[in-house]
Amino acid sequence: MKDITIIVIDREGVKHEVVAPTDMNMNLMELIRSYDLAPEGTIGICGGMAMCASCQCYILSNHPLSEMSADEDLMLSEAFHTKDNSRLSCQIFIKEELDGLEVELAPE
Ligand code: FES
Repeated sequence: MKDITIIVIDREGVKHEVVAPTDMNMNLMELIRSYDLAPEGTIGICGGMAMCASCQCYILSNHPLSEMSADEDLMLSEAFHTKDNSRLSCQIFIKEELDGLEVELAPE
């Protein structure tokens, strides 16, 4: 297992290139929190249960992502600021094939 690089554009429009471990079963929301790329309390409110949409992001690159679960789909259908490329970052797990993934955080 190796570390991969993920590019995150924060809510201020600043681009960050961060290193992510693939062997910790970590999701993208946890990664974003661990680098403090969104203020505490504005992301990951439900703890990664696909129940709050505070971790919504827009997928900017063409990486093979896991299918959306019914819960994620439902949550996004009720969320604000959604786009065709919206996903809940807590439902995206860090894996080797996501090396170079580029995402943008949705507004709060
Ligand atoms: S952290 Fe709540 S939906 Fe992702």
